Amino acid sequence: MPELQKIRILFVCLGNICRSPMAQAILRHKTGGMGHVEIDSAGTGDWHTGENPDPRTVAVLLRHGIQEYSRARQLRSSDFEEFDYIIGMDAANVKDILAWREARPEKVSLAATWQDPASTAPVPDPYYGSMGDFERVFDQLDEITDAILRKIDLTEHEQPEG
Ligand code: 4NP
Repeated sequence: MPELQKIRILFVCLGNICRSPMAQAILRHKTGGMGHVEIDSAGTGDWHTGENPDPRTVAVLLRHGIQEYSRARQLRSSDFEEFDYIIGMDAANVKDILAWREARPEKVSLAATWQDPASTAPVPDPYYGSMGDFERVFDQLDEITDAILRKIDLTEHEQPEG
């Protein structure tokens, strides 16, 4: 049987314990069962590699019925080959992603531009903030992931030969 064409989306923030794992968990939840859609997240920094998401990220996800999340890792060169869409949470993330020697700028976007191509709005870093800040990040990512689902064609296509 021919393979289905994979669609691979990578969310990126600074630490990979607050915003990008939340975006990953939300979009995975919304695309659950779509075997040809792969969603991952990474941090531009490496301080939290191997850690679970921040407990406040986990709490907010749980409150919204989402129980699955993954451990932190740093962005790596191969991500630019493997992923179709590399989505940064704020302008600093996008700048840091684009500074990678192997960066593929055509794959890189700011999260808010999925809602409005002219937007420069960040998904603000909630790390030094309150639970309310984490809730606001959830709401923002809920809307951004809906916008992504409207814009990316996730219907199943066969992998082209060769
Ligand atoms: P994130 O938040 O980029 O949304 O995961 C942060 C988490 C940790 C740190 C900064 C931001 N930190 O400096 O350790």
